[in-house]
Amino acid sequence: MAMEVKPLEAPLGALVFGWNPKTELSDVDEKTVRQGLAAHQVLVFRGHATPADQELVRFAYRFGNLIKGSEWFGDIDPVAEILRVNNLVGADGVAEGTGASASLEWHADYSYVPTVGKESFLEAVEIPAKNPPQTCFANQYAAFESLPKAMAERLRTLYAHHSITGYAKDGEQELQITGAPQGADDFRESFQAKKERNARLGVERPPIPQAVHPVIVRHPDTGREILYVSKGITRSILGMPRDESNALLKELTAHSTRPENVYAHDWQVGDMVMFDTLGTLHRRDAWDPSERRVMRQLSTLWTPPAREENGAAAA
Ligand SMILES: [Fe+2]
Repeated sequence: MAMEVKPLEAPLGALVFGWNPKTELSDVDEKTVRQGLAAHQVLVFRGHATPADQELVRFAYRFGNLIKGSEWFGDIDPVAEILRVNNLVGADGVAEGTGASASLEWHADYSYVPTVGKESFLEAVEIPAKNPPQTCFANQYAAFESLPKAMAERLRTLYAHHSITGYAKDGEQELQITGAPQGADDFRESFQAKKERNARLGVERPPIPQAVHPVIVRHPDTGREILYVSKGITRSILGMPRDESNALLKELTAHSTRPENVYAHDWQVGDMVMFDTLGTLHRRDAWDPSERRVMRQLSTLWTPPAREENGAAAA
């Protein structure tokens, strides 16, 4: 049975039925997924059998090379491509995955890495019984297209600094926007505990990087331009006085998440949401930390153009 894509009654997003993660994706279905993603930015796969870790990895690889998410987050996991977004604690007392139940500010996955997320895959294994958190998605094609022309022209020449330092360690002094992002304390604690655990075990994990990316990015698959800044991760505009940079980022991050461009997803167990990581921003509500929320996350990777390639002047 071929896959079926049903658009949601929302500014973006569609439901996808008919995925069988137990078999290799057919070329026809791959095309359906690619076209559906280009048209709707967020695809909610529902009603399928639960994929094993390797089946999820196999599916995601059809769309590009995968980021080793668990390594970036300092985890010890047999499947490096899967990031465990959960609030579980291992027998050693250290978070098994991301380890936080606080809300997460608007962000694009891995924008703080030179090789950013292109598509992401987020699957609900367990969700809290009471007040399960929504995940909201904001359309960044629409955000770009609704910018005044003069502003779009100006932004095409600019580059921004992305960092999760405020989430991960003592980096508040580097934040140029209003204080540490939501969730910073939870993340800082779990990262620190993992770092100490890994040192004890002699496990090497890459340091958390920072990156500079264009403010306007042309999506490598859709060929369309997007606004690529977020309140959670973008810290400053390069070559701009701090006050001016803060004011511009505040204006852009408000513009990029206007309600008319947002879809709020209510999770059902088993939902596998594939989204255009470049073409959307997403955020998550907090949940009661005494309740379990268990997700599996993967991202394909892509390298945005470096500053020199665009002929930008040094900041
Ligand atoms: Fe995310």
